[in-house]
Order: sequence, then C-alpha cells, then structure tokens
Amino acid sequence: MAGNRYRNPASSLEPFASPNHLDIELQKFLQDACSLLCEWLAKAGQTGPLPSLSVLPEVAPLFEGLSSESLLEDLSLIMEGSYQPSHPGSLAHLDPPPLTGSVVADLICAGLNNNLLAEELSPSLSRLERLLCKWFAERIGMPAGAGGVAASGGSLSNLMALVVARNSAGLQHDSKAVVLVSKDAHVCFAKATRVMGLQPDSLEDVVTNEEGQISLKFLEEQLERIRAEGRKCFALVATAGTTVRGAIDPLKEIGELCERKNLWFHVDGAIGGVFALSNKTKNLLRGIAFANSITLNPQKLLGITKTSSLLLVANQSNLVSTFATGLPYIEPSWGDHVHGGEMGLQGTRPAEILKLWLGLRQLGQKGIEQLLEEAIQRRNYFEKKLDLTKLQVISGPLHIISFTPRNVDNHQSAKWSIATKQKLLDQKFMLSRPFHNDRYYLKAVMGNPHTQKIHLDKLANLINQSVGC
Ligand SMILES: Cc1ncc(COP(=O)(O)O)c(C=O)c1O
Repeated sequence: MAGNRYRNPASSLEPFASPNHLDIELQKFLQDACSLLCEWLAKAGQTGPLPSLSVLPEVAPLFEGLSSESLLEDLSLIMEGSYQPSHPGSLAHLDPPPLTGSVVADLICAGLNNNLLAEELSPSLSRLERLLCKWFAERIGMPAGAGGVAASGGSLSNLMALVVARNSAGLQHDSKAVVLVSKDAHVCFAKATRVMGLQPDSLEDVVTNEEGQISLKFLEEQLERIRAEGRKCFALVATAGTTVRGAIDPLKEIGELCERKNLWFHVDGAIGGVFALSNKTKNLLRGIAFANSITLNPQKLLGITKTSSLLLVANQSNLVSTFATGLPYIEPSWGDHVHGGEMGLQGTRPAEILKLWLGLRQLGQKGIEQLLEEAIQRRNYFEKKLDLTKLQVISGPLHIISFTPRNVDNHQSAKWSIATKQKLLDQKFMLSRPFHNDRYYLKAVMGNPHTQKIHLDKLANLINQSVGC
C-alpha cells in the first residue's frame, strides 16, 4: 500500500486514508473518537465547569508513531483536563456549549482540509462563505453591495475593519490618525492600533453614560477638538454588547453623526450583533444597518464552535482595495469573484464557514430566535433574584450581567470577588471577575442553554448570602 511506510508496524491504522477504498480502520478510529467525545459531553452535568485535575500526556512524538488506541488514551487525558462549557454552571465567559451540527461540521472541515485562500482550493466552500456573508448582510439590512469574510476571531475582524477604514480615508501612512472607541470597548482595539503602527494616543476613548453607552453629549466636541489639534479621525467605533455589561451604544445616532462628518462607522457586534438575526430582538440594534463595517462573533452565543467571526462591510470592494495583492502562485478566481485570501489579512484559512452554516441550518430561524430570547430571559430572571439593596448591578439589554457589593472600596471588592468566585466554584458555578470602573465585579453570561431557573435560583441565593452580613 502506497501510504503505509509512515505507519508503526504494530498499528493497523494508516496515517493517511486510502484514496482507493473505504478505510475500515479509519472508520473505527473516528467512531471511537466520537464515542469518547459523546461520553465526555454526557458527563458534563456531574463534573462541573472546571476539571479537578489536569494531567497532560507526553508531549513530544516518540520514535515510532502511536496506535489508534494509544492516541485515544492520550486524547482522553486532554479531555479530562478541559473546561466544560456544557455544564449548566458554566457562565463565566462568552463560551457556550457547542452546537452538535457545528461539531460535526468541524470534523468534516478537518477531513476536507480545503483552503479558503483561493477558489481552486475550496470550490464549494469559497462560494458558501460569500453567500453566507451576503445572507448575514441582507438580514441585518446592509445595502446591496455588502459582503464579508470570515476571520479567526473578533479581534482579527475588528483589526481588519480598522485597516479598511484607515485605507478608505487615505490615512494609511498617517501614524497620528485617530480612531474613537467607547471607554468600555474591548481591549482588542488597543492591540489593533499597535499593530497598525499608530501613535499611542491614536486610540481615543469616548466617555460613557450611566448605562455604559457612548455618551453623545461630548462626542461632537471631541471630534471638533481632534480636528482643531490638526489630527485626522478615520473611524468611530460603536460597540453592540460591551464585554462587562452588554451595553449597546446608540447606533442610529452614531451612524448619523458619522454620515454628517464623513467618518467610517464600525460596529463591534462581537457579542450583540447576532441579536439582529431575530425579528424579536433586532430592535435592540436599531441603526446597525448604517454601519460601514460590522464584526459578528457567532462563536460567542449561538454555539458555533470556535473560532467563528465575520467581518461584514457595506461595500465589499473596500475589502479588496485594502487587502488584495494579487496571488501570483494561484490561478485566477472563477467568474468575477475575488479569492477569499484577497479579502482579508489571513492567507491560508480553514473553512470555518462550514460550522456556521450547518449550525444555523440545524437551529433554523425558530431555534436562533429561541436561543437569543432565552438568553435575555435568563439574565432578566436572575437579575430579579438579586438583592439590589446590597448589590450594585450593571447590565444592558442583552444576556450579560455584572454585580459588586454596594458601598465597598476597590480593595474590599477585590476580596469579596475572589472569595465569592471560589465559593461559587465549589458549588459548580463558574463566573468571571472583571475589573471595571475601579472595582472588581462578578460577571455572569447567560448564554448557556442548559442553565435553568433552578440553577439561577441557587446561584442568586449564594450571591445574596455573600453580601448577607
Ligand atoms: C465586545 C468584544 N469585541 C471583541 C472581542 C474579541 O473577540 P475574540 O476573543 O473572538 O478575538 C470580544 C471578546 O470577548 C468582545 O467582548
């Protein structure tokens, strides 16, 4: 057999599947691996969000390759030490349980091993990516020339958006160019401006109001001051769903301001953008359709397996004019389409679009709406159970809620948050501990479909007791 020179003689599994016949050993290997995964998922309820022990198998490859049995044993050790997003108490971050359709698509994606760099390396998948991005753009209400590209995570989508915005403004060589973001925006914008070679003061914070939204009151003055200083602004970023409390900036008003000032309007919808997919929640994002670019992260709530992020742009040709270099080692793309590798920063890319597509098809419109609505309902229910006389709660209209004891200083909030986080972990609830506005908070993200009222009642009781005396 052609490929078997790589095989350990003691093992019957070929490292490369035969191109000529059905590989029964591979079939068994995949079935056994799938059983292992299903068993791991099935015991999520008993184990808790975090493993009690994490033991790694040997790291370096041995001289002889391993048999399928040994590979699965090693895999199971890694699995035993993994974070368990399917436990109902896993509420710390934006990392929900995986959709089963998405898990299967990820496996198939690995088996296909296509490359979204270029059409000839991923004929059907390149088309799927183009069409699904267009579907998202249409659904959100973006104009006819809109489109997008998948990226490995929201940080990358946001970076690409800023690069496109700066390029469109003709400021790609101006290291003093300015971008405005909410003071509650995600840290990835700081990273992006560093990578873009901008001066440290190029990233200007915009003050927020009591609800954690960009305050419009000072925005025009801020733009005027930047202009008077002789600096040029290339984008204004609104966040749809801030990281700590899920606040949504006033998108419509910011969009109108950007239109008046001829500024690129980017919406970081990594958390909240998907709520535009449901007729019942899209009103929360009024004005998002005016955006020049939008970041969406279906990995954060819909259960699409990581990573899954999209950068949508109102005018797809902006992606091409910013990133296309020509691919002299690749055949031209078919029709009048542009290769995926010419529409963003990444070259070789996996077909992440497959798990997004299959996951959404599995949920259907009804499932998507239900998932989004129930996440908000869980946050609402839980918020009502908290003792507001003792806790200061910050939250927006989405599924994220943070809280800290009233009348404590920074040091006391740190002490409380560390002790309470551990007590909750002992009871199999995992929350996160963001530092926000000079205080430590505990944060719960209600995007886990396994979390029921009975869990929320227990969690709220434990939290209320933590500030009891
Ligand atoms: C609002 C917001 N934008 C962007 C990001 C970055 O996304 P990623 O972690 O996929 O790079 C995050 C991550 O939590 C976020 O909360």
